[in-house]
Amino acid sequence: MTDLTTSIGLLGYGTVGSAVDRLLNDRAEDIARVAGGPVAVRHALVRDIERRRDARDGVLTTDFAAIRDDPAIGVVAEVMGGIEPTRGYLLELFAAGKSVVSANKQLLARHGAELFAAAERHRVQLRFEASVCAAIPVVKVLRESMIANDVAGVLGIVNGTTNFILSAMAGGQTYGDALARAQELGYAEADPTEDVNGADAAAKIAILASIAFHTRVTIDDVPFNGIEDLEAVDAAFAAELGYKIKLIGSAQRLPGGVAASVHPTLVPTSHALAGVEGSFNAVMLRGSAIREITLVGPGAGGDETASAVIGDVMSVLGTSGTGFFQSDGYFRQLPVVPESEVESGFYLRLDVLDQPGVLAQIARVLADVDISIESVIQRAADGRAQLVVTTHPAPEGRFFDAVGRIRSLGVTRAEPTMLRALPR
Ligand SMILES: NC(=O)c1ccc[n+]([C@@H]2O[C@H](COP(=O)([O-])OP(=O)(O)OC[C@H]3O[C@@H](n4cnc5c(N)ncnc54)[C@H](OP(=O)(O)O)[C@@H]3O)[C@@H](O)[C@H]2O)c1
Repeated sequence: MTDLTTSIGLLGYGTVGSAVDRLLNDRAEDIARVAGGPVAVRHALVRDIERRRDARDGVLTTDFAAIRDDPAIGVVAEVMGGIEPTRGYLLELFAAGKSVVSANKQLLARHGAELFAAAERHRVQLRFEASVCAAIPVVKVLRESMIANDVAGVLGIVNGTTNFILSAMAGGQTYGDALARAQELGYAEADPTEDVNGADAAAKIAILASIAFHTRVTIDDVPFNGIEDLEAVDAAFAAELGYKIKLIGSAQRLPGGVAASVHPTLVPTSHALAGVEGSFNAVMLRGSAIREITLVGPGAGGDETASAVIGDVMSVLGTSGTGFFQSDGYFRQLPVVPESEVESGFYLRLDVLDQPGVLAQIARVLADVDISIESVIQRAADGRAQLVVTTHPAPEGRFFDAVGRIRSLGVTRAEPTMLRALPR
């Protein structure tokens, strides 16, 4: 009797890989109905074959060639992470005629152009829903559902670890305590560097910008900073002003090209992203025909990510050739607009001398560069004063120029704290 099973390969059998295998088993009947036959993992690549895991006998291997050279395997899910040897493995899989589904944001944000070109050359697919916001189907929405739209912007909370920490800080915890709690609950890795410094979010925004605007944006085009230097006092001032602080990834289509960035940002409490708490992610998409939609959900987790991986495997099985919008012709090359020319509102907290005329001097500097003030809070105690100013949107370069001039006035006592603020 002919075996109608579709065999897939896994690169990696960790949190996500083992969940892919388990979900394929748990949902076997439904998946078989949709795919026209059973779908099963034939081989999974690991480093340490001795480690105890729940895989069926004969599935695990440490030999990449066992997957690459198996003619029964047509689709491979890359859930091992890292840049090398992963990048090389993908190129070898494409050359062997296999389509790949990847959850690896750093790899795609750095080497996407090379990998897509190679996949196209070999007439196979590279899909990557799981690389951005795990369970939230934002890649599919941007690539397929929004094709009738001119996408104007993407704004999102795309890192759950930092959102969890910021939610805890809004409740009065210090950054250090909130990070320790996130690690205790398994939201933050043992080494959380890429989450808290914004690099993880920057990779996701590079991928989203590329597909939103059909242009190549790499992580090097995305200026970012993280939340490590935020202080509880800023969360408190933000709340007083009617904002929450969130790590916001933004990608915009501007007259001169595209701009993408990741920064801790003040979000008005009435804004759709302000209500996204804890480890959840959310992405707002603005398009010419749809106005605005917000997708919200869990942005990480083994099952959540595996769900997106399996969805992509099914899409590969359900389409042929190079699939939706993968081909090079989909992309153009838009210039990347320097961040200094991108407009933003700002929150500026200054530790200043408590003496007459200081606020007037600062207001004059801002007026000189044509930046208008939205609100001011002044608190004085023990000969020191905290001055918090929020501004209306203006080109960022102009704001930083003003801060340079304020520094040279000689009235500040510490480094200013500067955060971007979304318009109310
Ligand atoms: N976990 C999440 O919530 C999540 C969410 C979104 C995206 N992702 C992405 O999904 C991917 C996998 O994440 P994960 O959490 O499942 O990682 P993980 O638990 O560390 O698993 C990685 C797996 O890959 C194998 N592996 C790593 N390097 C290898 C190499 N050089 N050769 C052979 N095998 C290798 C490991 O083998 P051993 O087990 O033998 O060490 C392990 O089985 C990453 O790209 C990650 O960014 C994860």
